[in-house]
Amino acid sequence: MIHLEGATLIQLSDKIENHVIGPSTKDYEKVFYNPAMAGSRTRSIMLMKHIIGSGYLGDSEIYAIDGLAASGLRARRWLNELPPEQANRLKVTICDMNENSIERAMENYRKYPPRNGKDNLSYRKGDLRSAILDQGWHWVDIDPFGSPMPFLDTAIQSLAKKAILEISATDTAALAGSSKTALMRRYGARINPDNLAHDSGLRVLMACIARSAARHDRFAEPILSVWDSHHLRISVKVKKSVEKANELEKCLGWRVSEPNEREVIDSMEEGLTPRSSTKSLPMHCFLPLSYPVNREDKRISGPLWIAPLGDSKVMSSFIEDDVVSMCTTEFSPKNPMNWDKRDFELERRRVVRSIKNIKNESEIIEGEFLILTDDLASWRNVGSPPSPNKMVEIINEKGFKAGLSHYPKPSFRTNAPWDVIIESLEQTQPPI
Ligand SMILES: C[S@@+](CC[C@H](N)C(=O)[O-])C[C@H]1O[C@@H](n2cnc3c(N)ncnc32)[C@H](O)[C@@H]1O
Repeated sequence: MIHLEGATLIQLSDKIENHVIGPSTKDYEKVFYNPAMAGSRTRSIMLMKHIIGSGYLGDSEIYAIDGLAASGLRARRWLNELPPEQANRLKVTICDMNENSIERAMENYRKYPPRNGKDNLSYRKGDLRSAILDQGWHWVDIDPFGSPMPFLDTAIQSLAKKAILEISATDTAALAGSSKTALMRRYGARINPDNLAHDSGLRVLMACIARSAARHDRFAEPILSVWDSHHLRISVKVKKSVEKANELEKCLGWRVSEPNEREVIDSMEEGLTPRSSTKSLPMHCFLPLSYPVNREDKRISGPLWIAPLGDSKVMSSFIEDDVVSMCTTEFSPKNPMNWDKRDFELERRRVVRSIKNIKNESEIIEGEFLILTDDLASWRNVGSPPSPNKMVEIINEKGFKAGLSHYPKPSFRTNAPWDVIIESLEQTQPPI
């Protein structure tokens, strides 16, 4: 079977027993290919385009490693779908401990060479933890089965002075707070498994990445964080800086759901909640790491990252026209997949969906509140949940920032004070 993901071909069937579509296998003999991760691969290309274009990685060769490569499709997509002037600068390595993975990936590379950077892919067979420490990498991608924690320290140590690290996790039961013991064991945190648990999970993982970076005199700053069905992924800029690493504690703290008045006032005083009257209290707020919390209190999640989870400049570069021109192909009647026009159209839509709302959210990624509209309606005991679009419109009219968020539930982010959010909610309700 020949398959097209984005604008890149992959042969899955020459040794079909070695190719498994779907997340069902952990059998290391088999080569893993999961179409549900296509969106994550597309976002990785968009991110690379922006970062390379911004000059952050300098102007010469860029050493990138797809550390747990499986089918190698992510690395092949980088080379095939990035603009030529960028792909030609990339020196990409795929690494996997599964020999079959490396063989199939290189076969695909020879059979469907990238449009650019034709001699720019090499491989390393073996355990990532011993395979990457011999040089500094500008781009490291860690996409494991389950938790990335076993790879984190090595990945951080392998980075060049200025680099990008992309980390996925699929142990979502732990990071959404439902597997409490696994969460505590791997990440040293607790998460209230409420509707904000996905955001809290991203923040707990980010706190672990940042702590690991600080241990190696580096500062990690999130540029894109996404929870996408069965996995979560955080991309960070990592820079060598003892000074910045020393300031890490300011970015760590706690999330309290249903906070009391004292907690809300303290959060406002720390600049973690926009100032507002406390006539009505918000659904949740952040508190600094130094705040005395009772770790048995079920309302408390953390320790977690309390600073923004993304970078607005980076996120604003996720433009639909760009992703379509880079990561899709036009229908041609003689295509190797035997797809019809509709199949091409469906792939185009999948690609566009993978970046939905990222640009929207870019302007407000620093907003203190992530509001789930269903929760807001029940918290305030109003009839029907407001439309997130309507809330954004009203809050913007009032002079505050608000934007739809790339979150798995209907939601928006805003920097408006709580009073303004409640006033806006009331405006969406039909008159009694
Ligand atoms: C979830 S898959 C990676 C998916 C891939 N990044 C993609 O986008 O399709 C995890 C891969 O990590 C490999 N792996 C697991 N432990 C490893 C280790 N310690 N060193 C190198 N590879 C490892 C497995 O063989 C498997 O191919």
